[in-house]
Amino acid sequence: MSTTEQRVAVVTGGARGIGAATAVRLAAEGRAVAVIDLDEAACKDTVEKITAAGGKAIAVGADVSDEAQVEAAIARVVEELGAPTILVNNAGVLRDNLLFKMTAADWDTVLNVHLRGSFLMAKAVQKHMVEAGWGRIVNLSSSSALGNRGQANYSAAKAGLQGFTKTLAIELGKFGITANAVAPGFIATEMTKVTAERVKMGFEEFKAAAATQIPVQRVGEPEDIANAIAFFTGEAAGFVSGQVLYVAGGPLD
Ligand SMILES: NC(=O)c1ccc[n+]([C@@H]2O[C@H](COP(=O)([O-])OP(=O)(O)OC[C@H]3O[C@@H](n4cnc5c(N)ncnc54)[C@H](O)[C@@H]3O)[C@@H](O)[C@H]2O)c1
Repeated sequence: MSTTEQRVAVVTGGARGIGAATAVRLAAEGRAVAVIDLDEAACKDTVEKITAAGGKAIAVGADVSDEAQVEAAIARVVEELGAPTILVNNAGVLRDNLLFKMTAADWDTVLNVHLRGSFLMAKAVQKHMVEAGWGRIVNLSSSSALGNRGQANYSAAKAGLQGFTKTLAIELGKFGITANAVAPGFIATEMTKVTAERVKMGFEEFKAAAATQIPVQRVGEPEDIANAIAFFTGEAAGFVSGQVLYVAGGPLD
């Protein structure tokens, strides 16, 4: 590929939150961006933000846990933007509950979206990366991978993504492809807003309480995560692979 050619990025769960901020940031870095989410219409705001700033983006509706939908979505990306060589597996859901109350359906939903979804997307996109001899994969893990009350399903999925990331780094490195994971701490999004509602706290109060436990004394914003993803997907990051970066306003491990 010539250096003037635009690389194509796929960002799942790009309609809002961390995914939307990431799509906007990658577009600002000069990438053409496919914004994928469950409902194509919900991606409109993100796409408009990118195009208004002079960038290139399309909205694609797909459930990342559905193999046929993933394949169709990537075929559309290839057709409309070109072969994707950057993948950010960001789509996610919560189905929190204590183990004794957690249903098998809630276990399956969370594992399917985060783990199966990231697997299906990586599988669909890797062949374009291999052909290009260049690729960047970033998977969204979480501080919950270290264990979190009420999140047996989510913490298992997020820890699973770390192992998945390291294996992709080992298998795909020889094709010029890196794979890394970003593990956010508390980020102010719809996801954490729902958690506040579940524990019957106002969002502002919930964020303020969380901030007192974070060394930098504030909660994260979606742009804090987009910034780390921009680094891992950058041209200069080719020797950084198989890493898990906690972006949490303080140390975690
Ligand atoms: N917010 C946090 O504090 C936090 C912390 C650690 C990790 N994360 C992770 O970061 C990612 C983004 O989180 P967020 O806070 O922006 O969440 P969010 O709920 O605001 O956004 C998630 C997006 O994913 C989409 N989505 C859900 N299921 C999907 C599916 N099957 N197919 C396609 N799209 C789907 C949703 O429609 C939504 O637009 C998630 O993987 C989440 O687990 C978030």
